[in-house]
Formats: sequence, structure tokens, C-alpha cells
Amino acid sequence: MSALKLAVIIGSVREGRFGPVVAEWFTEHARAHGAFEVDLIDLAQAHLPLELPAVSPAMDPNPPRPDGMIDLTERLAAADAFVIVTPDYNRSIPAALKAAIDWHFTQWDAKAIGFVGYSGASGGLLAIEHLRQIFGELNAHTVRNYVSFPRYYLLFDAEGKLREPEEPAAAARAMLDQLHWWAGALAAARSVVAV
Ligand SMILES: Cc1cc2nc3c(=O)[nH]c(=O)nc-3n(C[C@H](O)[C@H](O)[C@H](O)COP(=O)(O)O)c2cc1C
Repeated sequence: MSALKLAVIIGSVREGRFGPVVAEWFTEHARAHGAFEVDLIDLAQAHLPLELPAVSPAMDPNPPRPDGMIDLTERLAAADAFVIVTPDYNRSIPAALKAAIDWHFTQWDAKAIGFVGYSGASGGLLAIEHLRQIFGELNAHTVRNYVSFPRYYLLFDAEGKLREPEEPAAAARAMLDQLHWWAGALAAARSVVAV
């Protein structure tokens, strides 16, 4: 069996965002973990209008999508698993991330999802808990383990390196192990039973 595909998604798109630092840290660990072929997706590269198609992607799996979304849609479809890298925005997720989720449906269906959160005191956990509800509606499986960086600005130095890397690295490995188990189980199930 070929390596399972993991898409790591940078969930924030604003100018000056910290998301890419966290996502690159995680992607390095995901590649070193060795179980997945890893694709790093930056939502800032996609056109994500808030005006959704007339018929929801749950009803029409191929709605007309803007040209600037085609690459994103193809990469989401190719993935067996996802890790969403998200901050808390007002105790929830960035609007661009919600738009990227809502523009798709089959691309999430019966796939495994993990999370890396960062922000002020709450470390992305409020966004992660909202994402668990959202992905439940999309028939995706969210894994128990996660990585969280509360007050990330104290944890990373000016070069974007973690001051104390061991504990987050262990948390990333544990999540990747769990994600790999679920991604493999769900890929095998999808290959024999249509979702
Ligand atoms: C619109 C907005 C809302 C925010 N809300 C929260 C929040 O509810 N809790 C928190 O801990 N941090 C909050 N923050 C701080 C962010 O977590 C922090 O700015 C982080 O760097 C945002 O990620 P980004 O740099 O990748 O955009 C908020 C930031 C923004 C821009």
C-alpha cells in the first residue's frame, strides 16, 4: 500500500500571521514521523469567497467553484488525513478556514482529522472544540490527541524555534500515530464500502 496522504492546513490568512511558523514546525515533525506523504496547504493561496454556491456541497458534490479554489479542492480530495493548524479568533476559528470547510463536503467525508492550536491563554483549544463539532457534521473522524501552544509568543523564539521542543514534539508524535491508525482504517473502509 502506498503512503497515506496527510494535508496540513494553515488556517489563518491575515497579513503578519503566525500560522505558518506553527505549520512549518508541525510539517517538519510529520515528515520526520515517516508514516505519511505530507502536503502543506496555505489557505492564503486560495480564493475563498464567503458567498457559497446555490446548492450546498453536501447536496451537490461538484458545485461550481472559483478558478482560484481548484488547486485547493484537488489537494483536499487527494488527502487521507488532515491536520488543521488554527488559532482562536474570538473563541472560534478564522472565517477563511470556515469558508474552506464549507465549500467542500466529500473531500472531508470518512477521513481522519487532527489539530494543532495556538493563541493567547486558550492555545487554540476553543477553535479545536468548534472544529470537532463542524467535522462531525461532515462525517469526518477527529482524533483525541492534539497539540496546543497557549501564549505561543512565549514558547517560540524570534527565529520561530521552540525554546523547549521536547514536549510538543512528543505530543505531535502521539497525534500522528493516532491519526495514522484512523487514516489507514478509514482508507481501507472507503476502498471496500462507498461512503
Ligand atoms: C480576530 C482575532 C480574534 C482573536 N481572538 C482570540 C481569542 O479569542 N483567544 C485568544 O487566546 N486569542 C485570540 N486572538 C489572538 C490570536 O490567537 C493571535 O493573534 C494569533 O497570532 C492569531 O493567529 P495568526 O497570527 O495566525 O492570525 C485573536 C486574534 C484575532 C486577529
